[in-house]
Amino acid sequence: MATQTLTTSANPELIADVRLGLTMPGQKELPSKYLYDDVGSKLFEVISVLPEYGLTRADERLLQQHSEDIVGRLTPPTTVAELGSGSGKKTRWLLEALSRHQNISYCPIEISRTALNMCKRELGDIEAVRILGFEREYLDGLMEVAARRRDGEQLLVLFLGSTIGNFEHPADVKFLRQIREALVAGDALLLGTDLEKPIRQLIDAYDDPLGVTAAFNLNLLARINRELDADFNLEQFEHVARFNQDVGSVEMHIRSRKKQTVTIPAADLSVTFAEAETIWTESSHKYSLPEISRIAGNAGFRCDAQWIDEEWPFAENLLIAE
Ligand code: TRP
Repeated sequence: MATQTLTTSANPELIADVRLGLTMPGQKELPSKYLYDDVGSKLFEVISVLPEYGLTRADERLLQQHSEDIVGRLTPPTTVAELGSGSGKKTRWLLEALSRHQNISYCPIEISRTALNMCKRELGDIEAVRILGFEREYLDGLMEVAARRRDGEQLLVLFLGSTIGNFEHPADVKFLRQIREALVAGDALLLGTDLEKPIRQLIDAYDDPLGVTAAFNLNLLARINRELDADFNLEQFEHVARFNQDVGSVEMHIRSRKKQTVTIPAADLSVTFAEAETIWTESSHKYSLPEISRIAGNAGFRCDAQWIDEEWPFAENLLIAE
């Protein structure tokens, strides 16, 4: 009876993706978007304050320090659209800087309604800013925002936190090109990119000694246990972060400690893992500065300005649509 309820209420997209990813010949994989359920989102919040994971703080520092500068390069009136706003915390600096010069509309685009509501609460107090949330996938939301624009208005798209690095190359360029297609010449994209750094530092950032990142990654299996009634024994799997030198990316995997078979009733699936076989969950690419200009150029943007953090190599790139 319990199983029946579970089966009927389980997310059909998750079922399809689990089936596809765990029956792949060769490397098994699961899409990283499933890392962010309620538990995963909280664990990621903890990751972002770990001393070893400097990425989020670098992003925030740059926005805090250079918002006036960034805003000074825009051509108002400007409407702001943010892809994946999260709580909206780090966007405050930019919105405050913009609102000193003009009234603006801020359109956060989020698939998570919880995040969207948090964002509205977090930023709702800034005067001269009208918040219009879109509960949509990135590109669908962006096209809607673009369709509402008035004559002579510039769009500023925010894509912060180096989420672009989670797209496998060349999917990153393809995604930037799709953003470009929703824009007109003169529109702007503020793109956050994590930069190359020593391998030791990267491994510590993605495999912290407290084990928060390991818990974050393994929660994916716990989630499949919760939502699809699976029987992954979490003690028989471990988190792995490794640097792939050929592509310049940190790769996150979940490795099976032994040969074992797992059943996933709601997906009508049974999966066998060899000892040391892995499920690939996410890659995080680390960019070089010339590479950023190159992918921007390939997608139809020119790099107008760059701000780089001194403590944790990370860049905010202001790209202008050509
Ligand atoms: N997108 C983040 C990043 O690339 C997410 C992240 C941090 C992550 N640590 C992780 C994803 C560990 C999977 C596993 O930095």
